[in-house]
Amino acid sequence: SDPDPLQDFCVADLKAPMSVNGFPCKPEAEVTSGDFFFDGLSKEGNTTNIFGWSVTTANVLAFPGLNSLGISMNRVDFAPGGLNPPHSHPRATETGVVIEGTLLVGFVTTSNVFHSKVLTAGQMFVVPRGLVHFQLNVGVVKALIFTAFNSHLPGSAVLPTTLFASSPSIPDDVLTKAFQVGDDVIDNIKSKFSS
Ligand code: GLV
Ligand code: MN
Repeated sequence: SDPDPLQDFCVADLKAPMSVNGFPCKPEAEVTSGDFFFDGLSKEGNTTNIFGWSVTTANVLAFPGLNSLGISMNRVDFAPGGLNPPHSHPRATETGVVIEGTLLVGFVTTSNVFHSKVLTAGQMFVVPRGLVHFQLNVGVVKALIFTAFNSHLPGSAVLPTTLFASSPSIPDDVLTKAFQVGDDVIDNIKSKFSS
């Protein structure tokens, strides 16, 4: 859902400050074939963390050739039981394909309806723009998906860290009221994300 490009390409000059819609173009004389290829999704991510997952991004910041083209991808690796925690992308619809493993994939609509399915290799999903979604590895071996977005920089608001690990933090009064629990519960959750 990014705006349409007004030229063939506009390889990002990442040293220039981002302006309203992306980065300025690097001078065409400096553009090389290398600007249009990217190896960053070839390696398995490190899933040794509390969620047992790893997202490797191929957005405009990692792959400057995507600048202004309205498209990007991720690689997501999952340890057995690993979770890509509930999150949303403010600027893009997401589609994805399972390469290996078995995942429960789901999202919730703004009417609070939960849509989900268990997927295996070759099967795809779509998450409409902005909706909260997750993937959980329900298999006993690792899992791998590739996802694609109709934005060069979809952004990601990850609910657990947005709510419990922002800086500065959201006051406990807000979170105790929102979740109808005591300070002890909120402090306990916050403690899981303090590094
Ligand atoms: C998966 O949800 C991803 O954002 O890559
Ligand atoms: Mn996502």
